[in-house]
Amino acid sequence: MDRIRIVGGNELHGVIPISGAKNAALPLMIASLLTDDTLTLENVPHLADVEQLSRILGNHGVDISVNGRRERQGESYARTIHFTCRNIVDTTAPYELVSKMRASFWVIGPLLAREGKARVSLPGGCAIGTRPVDLFIEGLQALSANIEIDGGYVNATAPAGGLIGARYTFPKVSVGATHVLMMAATLANGTTVLGNAAREPEVADLANCLNAMGAKITGQGTATITIEGVRSLSGARHRVLPDRIETGTYAMAVAMTGGDVILEDTDMALLDTALEAIRRAGAEITPTNSGIRVVRNGAGIKPVDIVTDPFPGFPTDLQAQFMGLMTKSNGVSHITETIFENRFMHVQELARLGAKISLSGQTAKIEGVSRLKGAPVMATDLRASVSLVIAGLAAEGETMVSRVYHLDRGFERLEEKLTRCGAHVERVSD
Ligand code: EPZ
Repeated sequence: MDRIRIVGGNELHGVIPISGAKNAALPLMIASLLTDDTLTLENVPHLADVEQLSRILGNHGVDISVNGRRERQGESYARTIHFTCRNIVDTTAPYELVSKMRASFWVIGPLLAREGKARVSLPGGCAIGTRPVDLFIEGLQALSANIEIDGGYVNATAPAGGLIGARYTFPKVSVGATHVLMMAATLANGTTVLGNAAREPEVADLANCLNAMGAKITGQGTATITIEGVRSLSGARHRVLPDRIETGTYAMAVAMTGGDVILEDTDMALLDTALEAIRRAGAEITPTNSGIRVVRNGAGIKPVDIVTDPFPGFPTDLQAQFMGLMTKSNGVSHITETIFENRFMHVQELARLGAKISLSGQTAKIEGVSRLKGAPVMATDLRASVSLVIAGLAAEGETMVSRVYHLDRGFERLEEKLTRCGAHVERVSD
């Protein structure tokens, strides 16, 4: 199994190209189930999760062809992928596939909208929390779906004439449930109004793509999304938006090591709250023509308190990385996680590098230390694992991160992007 070996101590200087967003690419790929025409997605990152979802979509009848053209020689493997689902050949998403990746549960929306039925395995818990699906079920029931849970599967059927548009207000903000209800409502009879919808940029990206396919969606990016049902959707060409979590991760890496890096092909507006926190920690952040410049020269890292929240709040997917940064601040900071109940698994691993962190309920108290020391550590989930990389970049000596498959789910060519900026990071295959 691969590991990542980091020798800390180098500043980062150079350019890092930002990939297309994993969490936009996944729902966009699933949207291809809604039409018998070809959906072409540009700027799709080359990640284990994209490969896994491709297998799942193939099972439902989606034909996938990849144009492996490199957009910039030697720097980005962003790909253009064509998804064509002439016929849905199977409306069942089996446990073996759904349990590997939670987002594959989201096929329930398009399958139900296009075929009138879906049998999708419950995803089960995952490392970061219990992650129930009650909001999906309640929302689809509001669109008149009949839902039964049997033997670990959700069996959903639409009324004879198809789903029926309705008003539904989410009792809690959910990115996935917003994606699913929005996709299901595109082909429903009548108008659907979703209240307390997720405002994440990835939701707006999906809505924009669906509109290019002929859907009638307004209000995306706000808490109220209105979807006027249409009879059918067509193909489209859409470019996946930049990955704001990858952007924030590398910005925090530069804030951690010091240096001067341009994050290319990204957009500051996607992560205002996180960039503000990094600024308060002592980095200078300025827009460039095609991205963001992050600089930290000399000044120490200041302690900053943050609380995770749905967009536009501080993203839970950057919480672990920010904790990595705060381990070397020159004071005491507090990080409160409000989205997932078990998203502090990186705390024990950061402690192995010398971090001083104590937990009280959903809040971590981080007492900054002046030096971290490299050690063997274990990745526990995608974002937790990259927080160990950030800490390792500033630790003295060697940090060896095992279970790297977590990183490969969401960070495209991480070691190459960091190495090109002067870091000492390499993949070691046993
Ligand atoms: C998406 O997950 C992201 N995944 C997550 O990123 C991200 O952490 C999360 O949104 C929050 O921003 C993808 O986009 C593929 P939610 P999702 O439904 O949609 C609860 C990463 O590292 N909830 O917004 O699954 C849920 O338990 C991943 O890239 C219910 O209670 O998250 C959580 O507490 C990890 N009932 C909260 O809502 C439901 O039916 C928010 O979850 C659904 C969710």
